[in-house]
Amino acid sequence: MALRYSQTLPAVVLLILAIVGILLVALPAKNMDTPPEYMYGIVLDAGSSHTSMYIYKWPADKQNGTGIVTQHSECNAQGGGISSYAGVRGGAAESLKACLEQAVKEIPKSRHHQTPLQLGATAGMRLLNIVNATETQRLLKEVENKLRSYPFKFKEATILSGQEEGAYGWVTVNYLLENFVKYDFVGRWLNPGRATIGALDLGGASTQIAFETSEKVENKDNAMELKLYGQTYRIYTQSFLCYGQDQFLRKLLAHLIKTEGVKPQVSNPCYPQQFNISIKLGEDVFDSPCTKKYRPAQFNPQMSVSVVGTGDYQKCLDNVKEIFSFNNCSYSKCSFDGVFQPNVRGSFMAFSAYFFAHSYITNLTSIPLTSPSQLEKAIRLICNLTISEMTKRTNQKEKHMKNVCAISNFIQVLLLQGYKFNEHSLPSISFQKQAGGASVGWALGYMLSRSNLVPAEGLGLMKALPLGPWAGILFLFIAVLLIALGYLLMICRYTRNKQGMV
Ligand SMILES: *[C@@H]1O[C@H](CO)[C@@H](O)[C@H](O)[C@H]1NC(C)=O
Ligand SMILES: *[C@@H]1O[C@H](CO)[C@@H](O)[C@H](O)[C@H]1NC(C)=O
Ligand SMILES: *[C@@H]1O[C@H](CO)[C@@H](O)[C@H](O)[C@H]1NC(C)=O
Repeated sequence: MALRYSQTLPAVVLLILAIVGILLVALPAKNMDTPPEYMYGIVLDAGSSHTSMYIYKWPADKQNGTGIVTQHSECNAQGGGISSYAGVRGGAAESLKACLEQAVKEIPKSRHHQTPLQLGATAGMRLLNIVNATETQRLLKEVENKLRSYPFKFKEATILSGQEEGAYGWVTVNYLLENFVKYDFVGRWLNPGRATIGALDLGGASTQIAFETSEKVENKDNAMELKLYGQTYRIYTQSFLCYGQDQFLRKLLAHLIKTEGVKPQVSNPCYPQQFNISIKLGEDVFDSPCTKKYRPAQFNPQMSVSVVGTGDYQKCLDNVKEIFSFNNCSYSKCSFDGVFQPNVRGSFMAFSAYFFAHSYITNLTSIPLTSPSQLEKAIRLICNLTISEMTKRTNQKEKHMKNVCAISNFIQVLLLQGYKFNEHSLPSISFQKQAGGASVGWALGYMLSRSNLVPAEGLGLMKALPLGPWAGILFLFIAVLLIALGYLLMICRYTRNKQGMV
């Protein structure tokens, strides 16, 4: 008996070793990790209509990989955007309090002082800056002081340029889709060799387009070179101020009032038939730099005007087109308003207000938007619906539904006549709110870019075993496994034979 143990023990040990070895080598490295310690980062997206806070996290030991940073949670601040607190001391700071308190609770205390906190304001503050630069600076200082009063690592409270906003949206989309580098099953970082995809963002006060291009960008303001993971990407990025959906709706009203004249009742072909609301000329229409050029020489800002819907697809479309300018291009080609744009290329992701408009259109019509003619057919149908049909079908409030015909036509003109998407390229747009568990917007790309979470250089350091040696080691373990098994079998048979003989 003693002889048998001493004979089998080494073989069993070898067998176990080989199995453990094979498991270690073959299983994805990620699965073998103990639960990781996380680092956190906070971004406040101070938009024109509201402020959102995003908390991101990533494993403390892995900073550089794409797809490593994920969204931990999100918080929507109550009330309007910070620019809506112009002239209200303390209002903007107070509006951020609830979300910041949530961040204090959600992020482990030991990480607070390491957690970068940054606020980026967009077109709402760009517009306020045109009207009153001192008040804009005061507001920024106010929110900065508020952010500094929390235990996090305050980085900045700043107004992003339109170009930056577009480019950060592009970084977000491609990071979430792992188009830069990919962590493969063997634990290596690879360039997946995929084409990047373009980003289409529709906010309240501005709209952005950004995509990779090989064409010459004739206006250098629209060109951006991003170095990520050792690759250089040449991006075209453009932001149109006053072409966010809220400011577009204002311009449409201003345009209608300008053409029909200032009178107590104005008809709006983009509102559902019979639908009517009362608006104030000042606060609802002309109190914005975006409607300046439509402003009548004399008007009473307090005057109420009743806007009555006629639900007329064609007239609505014609009026929407008149908001854009398609002539006066000083480059080889333009999108609109004299802005240079290369041909759109590859796939796109459309998010923010694009996503909601798209889901309203498909919910209201059940028409798949696979071509320009399908899009037109769907919008025609929508503009013919009454407000009660719309609210019934979508379960949404009147205040959202009243503008669906106008916004859909706006998006149609923007994408087709503006950016020049056609039969072939329109179906390549996917309308999404989230990707990889995170909200799609500029916030993630902004944090990644400004916190060195995406390195400019390649990931030489991060590379695990290259494929050759890895296969060799796996082969070795399998050989050991087979030898140990064979040896065990042999001993078994030998002892059985011996027992049989006894
Ligand atoms: C700008 O805002 C400040 C502070 O609210 C105010 O005192 C000032 O009158 C404003 N200036 C203009 C031009 O509206
Ligand atoms: C406006 O709507 C109300 C109901 O909300 C209706 O009674 C009124 O007749 C409408 N006015 C016009 C001019 O259509
Ligand atoms: C991330 O990349 C930077 C620069 O490429 C490098 O200095 C740093 O050590 C890397 N961090 C990790 C955790 O590998």
